[in-house]
Amino acid sequence: MTSSPLSPAPLRVGIVGTGYAGTTAGEAYRAIPGVEVVAVAGKEADRLAALAAAWDVADVYPDWEAIVARDDIDIVSVATPNALHDVISIAALRSGKHVFCEKPLAITSEAARAMVAAATENDRVLEVAFNHRRRADVQWAHRYLEETGVGRIYHARASWKRRSGIPGLTSWFTSRDLAGGGALIDLGPHVIDSLLYLMGEPRVVAVSAVAHGELGRAGYGAMDNREQMAGSGRFEVEDLVSALLRLENGASVALEISWAGHTADDEDISIELLGVDGGLRLFVPRYKPQDTLWVYRQDAGAPVTMRPAVTVPGGEHGLVITEFIDVVRSGDWTGHHGEFALHRTEIIDACYRSAAEGKEVTL
Ligand SMILES: NC(=O)c1ccc[n+]([C@@H]2O[C@H](COP(=O)([O-])OP(=O)(O)OC[C@H]3O[C@@H](n4cnc5c(N)ncnc54)[C@H](O)[C@@H]3O)[C@@H](O)[C@H]2O)c1
Repeated sequence: MTSSPLSPAPLRVGIVGTGYAGTTAGEAYRAIPGVEVVAVAGKEADRLAALAAAWDVADVYPDWEAIVARDDIDIVSVATPNALHDVISIAALRSGKHVFCEKPLAITSEAARAMVAAATENDRVLEVAFNHRRRADVQWAHRYLEETGVGRIYHARASWKRRSGIPGLTSWFTSRDLAGGGALIDLGPHVIDSLLYLMGEPRVVAVSAVAHGELGRAGYGAMDNREQMAGSGRFEVEDLVSALLRLENGASVALEISWAGHTADDEDISIELLGVDGGLRLFVPRYKPQDTLWVYRQDAGAPVTMRPAVTVPGGEHGLVITEFIDVVRSGDWTGHHGEFALHRTEIIDACYRSAAEGKEVTL
């Protein structure tokens, strides 16, 4: 390792994956003073060459192992198909590197727990890319709930629904072994993360879920503007999950995540929180940067609807990576060993088990 946590020496980053996630992360690191991207790994020679030229990176590799094996790299940024997240992260953590991992943390609870254990035992930072919660509208909602509140939140509705949004139909995203699941494990981490964040991190104690993969299997629903790594060439996962979540505080959540549907939904993200004294709604169609918030209350006996004027400037991935670098530099890594991402994976895992078994599953 070239630097201790408090050293002024540059932090040296190796990026694994050259797709959307790896490229976005690389741009974010490069924008932070004192952080250098020194190596990139990926299977696509053309993308590696293009990134090496654009980022002035000398070392590119076809396999992640070459990055983890180096002793002059401080941080490994993991942006590969989901099934590799645990394998790469655990190896990197054991070799003394900090890890920034794309969502989901892992494809099973067991793998996610092993990652948290590796980060804890080696006392290295393990952070996950929950960039959606950094949207300015989600941040405003969080602040409103903390400062003003809506009374006890007894029920929430949370969803991400697309009309035609299967990323890379027949790519790794739709291979069970490489992705671990479909719409839920792809879009669910962001929705569940923002929801739990807004609700004050309640624990989910039970889930009852159903999963369908009708549209993908019938060849409908492909998102046409993405180029992902190849997979099995088949559609082996679900394109819709609907679930009822029971929370430890007695509250409930109706969750629906879908990649595709013959419906009006078109990349719609929605979170509705129903409190005893008020309600809060976040509705983001097609990543809309404004007019995404509603607050409902009853004042002087009449229903009042507020429309907070919050604009979302974008760049959330950069914010998450900046915070990650700040944590690494702080030298205080308590609570940054991936533990809070773990519960998100446990919820998703439980939903898949419930759908497979056809009954409610407790966590
Ligand atoms: N935070 C977000 O908003 C966000 C957005 C998109 C994707 N993601 C996540 O990022 C990850 C990657 O998604 P993507 O869309 O960039 O996929 P992608 O298919 O475009 O890229 C995957 C990359 O992994 C590389 N790879 C695979 N096996 C490898 C190996 N053995 N060694 C080195 N490199 C290897 C591939 O060569 C490819 O470059 C996924 O986990 C996805 O869920 C997160």
